[in-house]
Amino acid sequence: GLTGIQQLVASKLRDIPDFPQPGVVFRDFTPLLADGAALGALVRDTAARYAGRVDVVVGIEARGFILAAAVAYELGLGMVPVRKAGKLPGKTYRQSYALEYGTAEIEVHTDAFPPGQRVLVLDDVLATGGTAEAACSLIERAGASVVAVEVVLELAFLEGRRRLGDRTVNALLTV
Ligand code: PRP
Ligand code: ADE
Repeated sequence: GLTGIQQLVASKLRDIPDFPQPGVVFRDFTPLLADGAALGALVRDTAARYAGRVDVVVGIEARGFILAAAVAYELGLGMVPVRKAGKLPGKTYRQSYALEYGTAEIEVHTDAFPPGQRVLVLDDVLATGGTAEAACSLIERAGASVVAVEVVLELAFLEGRRRLGDRTVNALLTV
């Protein structure tokens, strides 16, 4: 059975068929963001599981930013953005990747992390894993180490976890 927090979070996700293209069921987490009790429970639960184990929280644009900033604040840590190409102003590492509905490029500032920093990576959905794998590669190129990739929802049928190799992946919910 699901735990209380899993039930609460699951009740605040909604499926939108055929977005952004036919055949894709989009898992929309805006109802979760809009609910103070559910968002608070998710943020506190996530933070508690990584307290003392990480030095910084990375958020993947765009939905990962929201979760990463909240969890970083709860832990008293900083937050580093991994952004879509062309948005970060400083010197960057860049990586292209394929996702469930297209291709994209993401970047991180080359000086985002002190050497050896322990990183928690946050995002809403793990689908094909392309985005999370590219983010981990960037973080590692920038000299930091990924403690875990944490997502709210894993679409297990897309086997994104495989793309992440030996890295630790944790999902609050799996479909
Ligand atoms: C979504 C989601 C993840 C990614 C997962 O972001 O928030 O970042 O896709 O897909 P993958 O595992 O197949 O890579 P999207 O690229 O739609 O960008 P957005 O958050 O800016 O809308
Ligand atoms: N990112 C990639 N696939 C997705 C999906 N089906 N729903 C929400 N975000 C996604």
